[in-house]
Amino acid sequence: MKNILVTGGAGFIGSNFIHHLLRVETDIRLVNADALTYAGNLDSLADVADDPRYHFVQSNICDGEQMGAILRDFQIDTIVHFAAETHVDRSILGPRQFIETNLVGTFTLLEAARNYWLNEKALPLQSVRFHHVSTDEVFGSLALDEPAWTEDTPYAPNSPYAASKAGSDHLVRSYGHTFGLPYTITNCSNNYGAYQFPEKLIPLIILNALEGKPLPVYGDGQQIRDWLHVEDHCEAIHLVLTKGKNGETYNIGGENQPANLTIVETICAILDDLRRDSPHKPHRNLIQFVADRPGHDRRYDMDTRKINAQLGWSPRHTLEQGLRDTVQWYLSNPEWVDAIRQRQEYKGWLDANYKSREEKQ
Ligand code: NAD
Ligand code: DAU
Repeated sequence: MKNILVTGGAGFIGSNFIHHLLRVETDIRLVNADALTYAGNLDSLADVADDPRYHFVQSNICDGEQMGAILRDFQIDTIVHFAAETHVDRSILGPRQFIETNLVGTFTLLEAARNYWLNEKALPLQSVRFHHVSTDEVFGSLALDEPAWTEDTPYAPNSPYAASKAGSDHLVRSYGHTFGLPYTITNCSNNYGAYQFPEKLIPLIILNALEGKPLPVYGDGQQIRDWLHVEDHCEAIHLVLTKGKNGETYNIGGENQPANLTIVETICAILDDLRRDSPHKPHRNLIQFVADRPGHDRRYDMDTRKINAQLGWSPRHTLEQGLRDTVQWYLSNPEWVDAIRQRQEYKGWLDANYKSREEKQ
């Protein structure tokens, strides 16, 4: 692993992964290929922008020529593919971009890798790897009494987002099976931590609470996610890159499964403590139940025994401490937050997603 291409590196997990890799690996060249959609943010990487190991190329994974040129120019041996449309609610209001980016984009990137590594034989095959970052949502939804998903659980995606990620996983696997493209896939549960775009539950609740705005809880708030600290996720991906086996899939999960309402109440309690003079205390009074997400998955739970037994990975962060650190991060980085809050696109999204929910309730 010498010349690494990270796609979607200006997003939440990608930027955390770039920070992680530059911390733990010295002898690498890292290229961040990101189209800078609404979710891409170079402010998240300001501290590494001048690192001689780091290169940013504004580029789109749907553009095969651009991807091919990056692979050749930087002699890329390892691709870590994060770039995607990622918000379930946006995939319900507008699915088309999810098909374009997650399916056509992944296909285009796979073709570029096949061409450079397999057709041009630019590098020794045993030195290359396509790592695809995917989600637990491909497995669908669990009832309360069902066992956690393993790597062998059949796919049953429910949202257009989940379906587009499932399709991209299948494409990656098929390139391994048919063409012999070396690959690994990780399917991961809900991440939280620094630099997450505030359309997702945890940062949205923190920022709304700080401003005294309603805290929207979909449906009855009893849906369950498997929360994982983003730094634990980055460590797991790094392990899979260095020790994972070609052609294998690994589940990654946080071993934390509180209901959404509990997550929201916990954030409120942390803010009551960290912002003792807030006029919005107690913050839990801001909670508002709103119309549910259509097709809302009830429960996610990942069985992580494979990555634990084979690669020795388990999450290091407790949810209690991780949430507190995350709230503190958003309190300590008002410039990062304000730059997003001021964007028209973000304001437009909040109106599009929440106004009609409040009216329906
Ligand atoms: P994000 O939405 O924060 O960032 C996505 C990044 O991809 C942005 O920087 C965006 O500019 C870039 N991008 C989008 N379309 C692009 C294109 N066509 N070409 C190049 N770049 C493009 O996403 P995230 O939450 O960091 O998720 C990263 C990956 O991890 C995704 O593949 C997602 O499906 C997966 N994942 C996320 C979670 C989670 O909880 N956030 C959990 C499991 C898996
Ligand atoms: O499970 C992994 C997935 O986690 C990733 O693949 C996705 O990219 C990522 O966005 C995330 O999807 P979720 O839909 O689970 O995350 P989100 O933060 O949007 O919502 C978490 C839960 O909170 C979900 O049950 C919906 C609920 N929710 C969300 C928002 C934004 C609310 O109740 N209110 C809200 O305003």
